[in-house]
Amino acid sequence: MCGIVGYIGLQQASPIILDGLRRLEYRGYDSAGICTLDEGVAQIRRAQGKLLNLENLLYDNPARGTRGVGHTRWATHGRPSEINAHPHRAGSIVLVHNGIIENYISLKGRLQDLGHQFSSETDTEIIAHLVEDHYRDSGDFEQAVRQALAEVKGAYAVAILCIDEPDKLIAAKLGSPLVVGQGKGEYFVASDIPAMLSHTREMIFLEDGEMVVFTPLAMRFSDLAGNPLTKQSKTITWSPTMAEKGGYRHFMLKEIYEQPRALADTIAGRALVEEGDVYLEDLDLDDAQLAGLEKIFIIACGTSWHAGLVGKFYLEKIARVPVEIDIASEFRYRDPIIPANSLTILVSQSGETADTLAALREAHGKGGKTLCICNVVDSSIARESDGIIYTHAGPEIGVASTKAFTTQLVALYLLALKLGRIRRSLSAADCQARLADLLELPRKLEETLELDAEIEELAREFVNARDFLYLGRGNLYPIALEGALKLKEISYIHAEGYPAGEMKHGPIALIDEDLPVVVLVPRNSTYDKVVSNMEEVCARGGQVIAVVSGDDEELLDKVAALISVPTVDEDLLPIITSVPMQLLAYYIAVLKGTDVDQPRNLAKSVTVE
Ligand code: G6P
Repeated sequence: MCGIVGYIGLQQASPIILDGLRRLEYRGYDSAGICTLDEGVAQIRRAQGKLLNLENLLYDNPARGTRGVGHTRWATHGRPSEINAHPHRAGSIVLVHNGIIENYISLKGRLQDLGHQFSSETDTEIIAHLVEDHYRDSGDFEQAVRQALAEVKGAYAVAILCIDEPDKLIAAKLGSPLVVGQGKGEYFVASDIPAMLSHTREMIFLEDGEMVVFTPLAMRFSDLAGNPLTKQSKTITWSPTMAEKGGYRHFMLKEIYEQPRALADTIAGRALVEEGDVYLEDLDLDDAQLAGLEKIFIIACGTSWHAGLVGKFYLEKIARVPVEIDIASEFRYRDPIIPANSLTILVSQSGETADTLAALREAHGKGGKTLCICNVVDSSIARESDGIIYTHAGPEIGVASTKAFTTQLVALYLLALKLGRIRRSLSAADCQARLADLLELPRKLEETLELDAEIEELAREFVNARDFLYLGRGNLYPIALEGALKLKEISYIHAEGYPAGEMKHGPIALIDEDLPVVVLVPRNSTYDKVVSNMEEVCARGGQVIAVVSGDDEELLDKVAALISVPTVDEDLLPIITSVPMQLLAYYIAVLKGTDVDQPRNLAKSVTVE
């Protein structure tokens, strides 16, 4: 995720940038850095870890100058370290970046052939070198930035200084957020509004493909081709705390809304559509090992365990490997039998969950290979696993996991496709078709979020229920579990998730007119079976909230409420149907007045047994 800040004006830049970074620390805190320009000299200070470390560094060794850029990092490419901290410099160019560059491998190769030497493991450093390469040719800073950005594929928000042109600061964006703050005789640019709110309330929002050139006296907007643009400013009335949540009432809601972006970032650079293949950069297990796998274990806790349950469907169906799934606290003490040609996959948002870490060590201790699906770069689980697939969800602050969950599902799906190709259970053509669907998913998720108001209304209707039952079948059974867990976690209403076909073996006894039953019944291969299960609930007076795909008019008159999600391939239904589960739990909790982001008794990361 990362946060960037830039300043140009008459005041000392460093305290302004530090204050901005402090308000952006929610976007990541693996390292922080700053560069100011002082009489033609770049004052670069960088420190690993939280912003405080950079502040201490600046206390001992201040960076003077009235223009500068700063960065707080959420590591994606390259572990958290001082070397990988931004700003990155190449010749006269100094740059901070938020986003992911997809074609960094080919760009890096080309630049190396031209004699460029790299000192970090980041994708960002490549942009600095690319700008510098063009700058060396033309001597025109603006033109060099345009030429470089035209070659970059992926997502970025950048703020760039040029030591030889100290009266200019350039910023541009594609895919990652960037906002300009207009002060009196000074300009600010940042990833998010709170970074600038204590200086100005006049903000201009950059759109994708737009660029801004600041001098101390003016700012000019253009597109990346150089065509001038006129932009209107908006006066922001948010309080600083509201602003940190991007105007959303809670981090959880903000994170629910971040899912299209988080999914796109997790897919970025990995879907090789033309080849019908998947590239997983840190898999670190060779194809022969993966081809010979006889068994996969998936181990996790909480929501991550639910992701693992869906992963079992993906891996067995697409890669045809038998999968055993277990809760980490159970696995670690049951003396599991781990065959030599098996792989243990640990799923963890934080990478620090004590039981999952212990399970990883148990698997290693028995000679097994391990792979983690993790959101936090260089966390304990990531460091100790043989291979890693990072989810690029960005920091998740709400205790109830949302965007981390859906990105875990995407990561597991990509892994299943990759294994399917290696093990020849998936043809290149089928893989191409699946990747094309996957690339459509962020847009479909965006559409799903339009259900917001409808679900808020529904929450009003059911807020007083004492219990909830969630039913799903196949790959949607884990989503029933996850829907129930979300509701329990934040609204404190008792809820159970059940496989729809198992309902008649117990939970059916609970059904009466006071029990809302959420039934996941989109069109898929078990549709008719779930409709029958739903009828059984209706026949006993249960209040069915049906989650369907597209227009399912047939069910309309049978149920108390219908939530319609966009139509997707049935393997992607778990991802799309997660959204109404999250929104329903969220709005019920808001109506109940609970502490949505920090629900009672729960912790974001459980680092004790
Ligand atoms: C806690 C959190 C859950 C999370 C679980 C596993 O219970 O409240 O949201 O799913 O831990 O955490 P992990 O970081 O390993 O995914």
